[in-house]
Amino acid sequence: MSSLSDIARTLVSDKRGILAADESVGTMGKRLEGVGVESTEENRRLYRELLLTTPDLAASISGAILSDETIRQVLSDGTTFPDALDRIGVLAGIKVDTGAKALAGAPGETVTEGLDGLRDRLEEYVGLGATFTKWRAVYSIGDGLPSERAMHANAHALARYAGLCQEAGLVPIVEPEVVMNGEHSLEQCREVTRTVLRSVFAELGLMGVELEGIVLKPNMVVAGDESGQRPSPSEVARATVDTLRETVPPAVPGIAFLSGGQDPEEATSNLAAMKELAPLPWELTYSFGRALVGPALETWRGSQDQWDAAQKALSERAVANASVR
Ligand code: 13P
Repeated sequence: MSSLSDIARTLVSDKRGILAADESVGTMGKRLEGVGVESTEENRRLYRELLLTTPDLAASISGAILSDETIRQVLSDGTTFPDALDRIGVLAGIKVDTGAKALAGAPGETVTEGLDGLRDRLEEYVGLGATFTKWRAVYSIGDGLPSERAMHANAHALARYAGLCQEAGLVPIVEPEVVMNGEHSLEQCREVTRTVLRSVFAELGLMGVELEGIVLKPNMVVAGDESGQRPSPSEVARATVDTLRETVPPAVPGIAFLSGGQDPEEATSNLAAMKELAPLPWELTYSFGRALVGPALETWRGSQDQWDAAQKALSERAVANASVR
C-alpha cells in the first residue's frame, strides 16, 4: 500500500488537482433544485456519474472527494464510484465531517463535528476504497470574529481528525476555510487567515500529525464579497503566498485551494498568478468544488441531451486549471 506521503504527493503533483464532489445531501439538494432538478437519491447519483465519467478526467484530476452517500452508490453499469475512479487513475476521497454546528459560547460561530465514532467510520471507508479524506472548518470575519474560542475548537478538531486518518492509513485534507462573505478588506482576510493557519499547525504539531502526509486546503486571501474591493490576481497571489510562507511548514507536500464562491475564471486566474511566484516550498494546486462543477451543473439541468455538453463544461474548467504554469 502507498505511504501517506506518496498519496499526498500524487494528489498535488503533475499539475493535477482535486475535484470536490462531496456536497452533503442537503447542499447538493439546494444546488440541484437551483437548476430545476428534483433532489432524489437517483438524481444525486446521476449527477455524480456525469462528473466522474467525464472523458479524460484523469489528465487534470488526481482525486475526487465523495460524500457518504456517493461512495456507496454505483454507476449505471453497476461499478462502484471508487472502483470507477480507480480504473481511470483517480484517487477516491471521502468527506468525513458531519458539518459545522453552532459552537456554545460563541454566538454566530461554528465548530465542525464528526469525531465521535470516526475511527470506525474510517475503517469502513478504507474498505470501500477511499485513500484520502476531507474535513472542513469554517471561520467568518466580522466584528471580533473569528474568536479565539472558535479558532481553538476548530483547530483542535482538525488535528484530532487528521491524527485518526493517518492512523487508518488515509491522507487527511485539512481544510480551514475563512469564508469570503462580508465587508472585510484583503488585508483583514490576510490577518485572519494567518492567525487561523498558525492555530491549525500548532494543533497538528501537538497531535503528532505527520505533515508529509497531509494536504492543506485553505482559502485564497481575497477581499470580502461585500467590500466593494476587487483585488487583481497578482494582489491576491501575493497576499496568499506571503501568508502561506509565514505559516505553512515546507514539510507539507502540497496546498490545494478551495474556490469559496469565486467566479470559476477568477479562481483560475488567481491560481495562475500564484504559480508565477514559484519557486515555492510546496506544490500549489486546486481542490475546487463550485469553480469546477458550476458550469457543468448549469449546462446539464437534468437533461439527458445536455450530458455531453455538461461533461465538456467540467473538462474545460479542469483543463484550464491544470494548464496554468
Ligand atoms: P468550493 O470550491 O465550492 O468552495 O468547495 C470546495 C470544498 O470542498 C468546500 O468544502
